[in-house]
Order: sequence, then structure tokens, then C-alpha cells
Amino acid sequence: MAKQLSREEQLELMRRDWDRRAQENARYYVDTSRKDWTDDTFFASGQQAINEDILTDMGNICQGKDPKSMRIIEIGCGAGRLTQALSKVFGEIHAVDVSGEMVAQAKAALGDRPGVHIYQNNGCDLRVLPELDYDFAYSAIVFQHIPSREIIETYVREVNRLLKPGALFKFQVQGYLATDSTPDDTWHGVSFSEQQAREMAERCNFEMRYSYGAGVQYFWLWFFKKPASAL
Ligand SMILES: C[S@@+](CC[C@H](N)C(=O)[O-])C[C@H]1O[C@@H](n2cnc3c(N)ncnc32)[C@H](O)[C@@H]1O
Repeated sequence: MAKQLSREEQLELMRRDWDRRAQENARYYVDTSRKDWTDDTFFASGQQAINEDILTDMGNICQGKDPKSMRIIEIGCGAGRLTQALSKVFGEIHAVDVSGEMVAQAKAALGDRPGVHIYQNNGCDLRVLPELDYDFAYSAIVFQHIPSREIIETYVREVNRLLKPGALFKFQVQGYLATDSTPDDTWHGVSFSEQQAREMAERCNFEMRYSYGAGVQYFWLWFFKKPASAL
């Protein structure tokens, strides 16, 4: 039978395991397609992902705003691979990661870029971020590693708390349903079906307007924050 862990134990485990991975080879654990990343290849892979996930979707993301005027959230920034490319598009980025080691590497790579703010958080909420209004939130290749639907849902509620009404939270979860992990597995996280994702959106005051990739690893969700009157 799977070992039961408290939320505090799971958060501590995520922090420890990701610190260890970051010390061993952060860039490999961020993107396991190679072990010998250089600065150039690592950040080019982030640029490629942002070209595909963000630059093709600016209508939903910006909703007519100038991206340079937008303040955005990134959850699970790792060593800053995507953060760097995001900072070329948006005016202000607030990025969190549970691992202090990852945060140190992201700060070393990007800390002096104007508008980039990187924080270590507790692995489940966004209380470290300034209480401001945010225009967009994004997370890729992070929730697929979290071994708890409750923790992921806490993040979704937190994003809802901070986003402006109508704004988008675009994020990826594990959609391959056979891969559910045990509570102490911080590499293989929990998976979501289309129905589970839709129910989570409803519980957290989002409209799940689109999804892509149900049943596969890269299951993308477009959650738009409902206006206050829909509460
Ligand atoms: C595979 S890496 C991806 C990093 C980045 N999103 C990218 O694609 O370059 C996963 C990252 O998620 C972070 N992470 C894992 N669980 C987390 C949690 N509960 N809260 C915040 N960050 C978490 C890890 O520390 C790691 O930096």
C-alpha cells in the first residue's frame, strides 16, 4: 500500500529532491533530452518552447494588451530556461520554484534582467509574491511532477486569487492516466483526465475554455478567471 504523507512532508520532500537534482545537474533534470547543455543550447530550447506555447497564442494571453505592459506569473521556473524567453516578451515576470538550488541558478543566469523577479516558495502557494494584479500565469513541465492533486489545486486557487478577472492561466499537467505516482514520488506526479481538469476549474472559479493533449503527457489547459460576479 502507498505510504501516506502529510502535506508538510510532501512539500519538504519536493524541496529536498529538487535541490538534490539541481545540485547534480539542474539543466538535465529541467529537460532530460540531453546532459551536456551549454548556455546557448539550454536557453535556445526555452526560446523554442515559448515560441510554440506563447507567441502562437498572444490573443488569449494578452487580450489586446501590450505584452510589455503585462505583469505575469511563472510557476516552477527551474534554472530560468523559460523565464529568460518570457522576459523578452513581457514587462514584468514573477517566477517561483520550490527548490532554493534551482532559484539560485535562475538568479545567477537572469537575476539582472530588468523586470525579472525570482522567488523560492513553499511548493504549494504564492504567498511569496507581491499582492498585485497579474495579467497572465503560466506553468510548463512542473505539475506533471507533483504527487498530489490537492497541492496542484492549491496553486490553481492561488493563481485565481492573483489574476485579473478574465485573465488566463495556461498550464500543463500530466494527461497520461496510467502514470499516477505514489505520494512520495516527486518525479512522476499525478495525472488529470479532461473531466478532472474541468471540475478543478469550476471549483477554483475558472472557465476551462480549451484543452489540448488529453490522455498524453503534455496535457495543456486554458483556464480563464471568471469575473467576480460569477462567484
Ligand atoms: C522539469 S523542471 C521544469 C522547469 C521549467 N518549467 C522549464 O521548463 O524549464 C521542474 C521544476 O519544477 C519545480 N517544482 C517541482 N515541484 C514544485 C512545486 N511543488 N512548486 C514549485 N516548483 C516545483 C522543480 O524545482 C523544477 O525546477
